[in-house]
Amino acid sequence: MTDRRTAVITGGASGIGRACAIRFAKEGCAVAILDADKSKGAETARHIVRGSGTARYYPCDVANRVEMQQVAATVQREMGPADILVTSAALIPNAESILDMDMDRHDRMWQVNYHGTLHACMVFGRQMRERGQGAIVTVGSINSILPLPLPAYNPGKAAIQRLTQLLAVELGRHGIRVNSVAPTYVLTEGLLAKIEAGQRDPAKIMGAHALDALPDADDIAQAVAFLCSESASKITGVLLPVDSGWAAAVSYKTYAGGVPWDA
Ligand SMILES: NC(=O)c1ccc[n+]([C@@H]2O[C@H](COP(=O)([O-])OP(=O)(O)OC[C@H]3O[C@@H](n4cnc5c(N)ncnc54)[C@H](O)[C@@H]3O)[C@@H](O)[C@H]2O)c1
Repeated sequence: MTDRRTAVITGGASGIGRACAIRFAKEGCAVAILDADKSKGAETARHIVRGSGTARYYPCDVANRVEMQQVAATVQREMGPADILVTSAALIPNAESILDMDMDRHDRMWQVNYHGTLHACMVFGRQMRERGQGAIVTVGSINSILPLPLPAYNPGKAAIQRLTQLLAVELGRHGIRVNSVAPTYVLTEGLLAKIEAGQRDPAKIMGAHALDALPDADDIAQAVAFLCSESASKITGVLLPVDSGWAAAVSYKTYAGGVPWDA
């Protein structure tokens, strides 16, 4: 038997999930990448293996409960029971009106973002309960903290935060910690494409933070790794913003009396 930890990353094929997969592999974990994107998922696993890490790609749709049960059993058989779970898989929308939104898209977003997170926590949480240990990090967003005009995504991220707290309390007695990270805008391929397409205004992004630099995907992965580490052994049920000061700055910078340095 090896004492190597098994880290399961949903959405591990790209962006923040990929950075988490690479980071946990560097920490010596065997990494299971669960993602719907077959070519990127396989490429991320190959990238880790080329760097002498251990990783396998498992194609799956996190929204599909039965598929998630099957993939969890396969991961357990091939890589061992999960010690770490990061739920990064999500669909990321553009701004839209509640009254006019497409309800099929709305429902699919809840299926992937909320139910997908729940399914992963259930199937891998059971493996952790069995052994009385484990760490889960759900990937929230600044949308977990304040309203933004994304009527399926925004309340979904708030719901994931509440789910994280419920899980933290229920699983705490089994030695399992459950936390969440709340990234601000991270310049992943997906966000850069949205900026390119005029769906995000870079000036608005940069003007909304306390720091003048945004986190990159590895900054988020480092926070996730910290929450899964021994250094965080008494931290559970928290939402850790990795937001360059967005939550502090966003109301301050819109104060009706102006900001002192602009006067
Ligand atoms: N990039 C940002 O600015 C930002 C900011 C805050 C929070 N987040 C959150 O971080 C997480 C990752 O975002 P990202 O920017 O890395 O996005 P991304 O699109 O690069 O990665 C998401 C991954 O999820 C996978 N995925 C989508 N639907 C799936 C499904 N049904 N089943 C399995 N896999 C599926 C995609 O194939 C993709 O690999 C998301 O939860 C997102 O909400 C991102």
